[in-house]
Amino acid sequence: MKKLFSKSKVIAFCLLVVLMVVGLTGCKTKNDKVIRVGTNAEFPPFEYMDENGKPTGFDIELITAICNEMGYEVEIVNMEFKSLIASIQTGGIDASIAGMTVTEERKQSVNFSESYFNATQYIILPIDSSITDIAQLNGKRIAVQEGTTGDLIATPGTEDSMITDTSTVIKRFKKGTDAVLELKNGGVDAVIIDSSPAKKFVSSNTKTLKYIDTNMDAEEYAIAVSKDKNEILDIINEGLIKVKENGTYDALIEQYFGEGDVVIRKTSDNWFINLWYTFEFVFISNGGYKLILSGLGTTLLISVCAVLLGVVLGMVLAFMKLTEEKKHKKTLLSRIASLYIDIIRGTPVIVQLLIMYMIVFQNRIGVVAAIVTFGMNSAAYVAEIIRAGIMAVDHGQMEGGRSLGFTYGQTMRFIILPQAIKNILPALCNEFIVLIKETSVVGYVAVQDLTKASDFIISRTYETFIPLITIALIYYVIVKVLSKVFAAFERRLRKSDKR
Ligand code: ARG
Repeated sequence: MKKLFSKSKVIAFCLLVVLMVVGLTGCKTKNDKVIRVGTNAEFPPFEYMDENGKPTGFDIELITAICNEMGYEVEIVNMEFKSLIASIQTGGIDASIAGMTVTEERKQSVNFSESYFNATQYIILPIDSSITDIAQLNGKRIAVQEGTTGDLIATPGTEDSMITDTSTVIKRFKKGTDAVLELKNGGVDAVIIDSSPAKKFVSSNTKTLKYIDTNMDAEEYAIAVSKDKNEILDIINEGLIKVKENGTYDALIEQYFGEGDVVIRKTSDNWFINLWYTFEFVFISNGGYKLILSGLGTTLLISVCAVLLGVVLGMVLAFMKLTEEKKHKKTLLSRIASLYIDIIRGTPVIVQLLIMYMIVFQNRIGVVAAIVTFGMNSAAYVAEIIRAGIMAVDHGQMEGGRSLGFTYGQTMRFIILPQAIKNILPALCNEFIVLIKETSVVGYVAVQDLTKASDFIISRTYETFIPLITIALIYYVIVKVLSKVFAAFERRLRKSDKR
């Protein structure tokens, strides 16, 4: 039974603690030569994910050039578009660059740099649509990206709305690509979105989609900066002038808005060959395999660390609760453990994750926030599994051990736990399986795990079937391997029992 407390586990736990402390202090020691800039990398060609899952695009290169020109580093933080302004206000980020239109309303909350791009709103339609004007969208179904100016234009009753009919259905998506996918799948009649992304989206779907202009007033994109950080606003404005003067700006315009770079896709009438072409398009020519591999790594890292943390913390909690058994009444320790378990079990893990990431970790090091959240969450369940396993061991065993002269702790270690482990293992295996699958929500806090990888691939390729089925298969294999390992372990325990 000594194995339960083996050196390697203790070392792993200590390492984890060190990692967490380093992570936390690391994010506190702020380097003032770094500007944290938020974006929403779902808006090509301004910002999108490259094949390694890193934000890139016109905006990202522009802000990097601006800051470097002024002697600053940039840290890009990817988040939902509608969270950008709030994050600037709470100080989670210093500024944002996200194809963001300057509006009177937003000016109440943030300051804007000089404008760096002009745009208008476009309407994306199915290629055979008869709609020619925005007014004809009244009473139809429209998809938009949540919180954007396109959203305001489409939503009846808002000041800028172009749609008056309140029976119009507005579907709001976190990503422009999802709005376009909805249109492709027939869920809406149109998408309202900024001109350049509209062109980009249509260029990857020329056979099925087209776009028209809303003929509305032009919008100006600018970089949003916290109202408390005028020095950063000055740096950005000065840098913007410099990159315009030294030609970097024009080069970026040419690179991102010039002609060309449409991937030609092979198609075939044969269903199988077509499937292969799609497969190769999704995973090879678009670099999907790299996203999957790095996502898999992240999922495994989070799961393994969270399981370790969950087991260690869960054991501590279980023993805290068991003091109640020993003393035959509630103790302070057992009360604390019960309260902890009660709270964790009573709240959704995704909410716990958001609290951990946004409040405790202040939107930094999402991976560590995820490990801590899932570890702490799992601990509550592991504690109950261990406690139940121990309680299921016959009472006489403890009495027997004690009358042999063992202390309580020794009886636990040498007599009770070795028996309890057999009750515990199957339930623990179940818990690990649940944990691994639950980590698939970490995409919410900008962690690029396996599930998020499929998301990126869908955004890049507009293919849904192959990426989703592939990801499902990978999870299945992980869970299968895990349950096989546990089954083997149980068999060994049973064998050693017979000896
Ligand atoms: N220009 C529009 C706005 O300011 C849309 C911007 C969306 N940008 C993005 N990165 N998702 O509302």
